[in-house]
Amino acid sequence: APSSRVSLTVNGTRRTVTVDNRTSLLDLLREHLDLTGSKKGCNAGACGACTVLVDGRRVNSCLTLAVRLEGAEVTTIEGLAKGDELHPLQQAFIDEDAFQCGYCTPGQIVSGVGCINEGHTGSAEEIREFMSGNICRCGCYVKIVRAVEQTAG
Ligand code: FES
Repeated sequence: APSSRVSLTVNGTRRTVTVDNRTSLLDLLREHLDLTGSKKGCNAGACGACTVLVDGRRVNSCLTLAVRLEGAEVTTIEGLAKGDELHPLQQAFIDEDAFQCGYCTPGQIVSGVGCINEGHTGSAEEIREFMSGNICRCGCYVKIVRAVEQTAG
């Protein structure tokens, strides 16, 4: 199958990879760059476990073609902490006990960062609406929204 070279910045580091043209950003991250924090739940845009930021905006990486990302800046769950210091929303998830099994958590946190960055934190309802694409089978929604609210301040 045809392949292409793509250069993009992932968590602040410039990466150049050659991928099959059909490769998703999620597979690029997980299989080519060994960044497995972004999860493959449905692989079809329905669960949000694969959520990352592209140029600061939230996307489902399973639906995003890697070859479209020439020059893009990608941030994954691995890129949120600064050294040993967690991102405030990561800390809030711990403080609020906003997860059970943890499978959806990387996507929830990245989506929550997108929610805060894009200014959709006016109310619990607005947060819930913005993050409605992030499914939690354990049903931690109330605590997840509380963590985002707390971090937004
Ligand atoms: Fe991408 Fe479910 S794995 S939305």
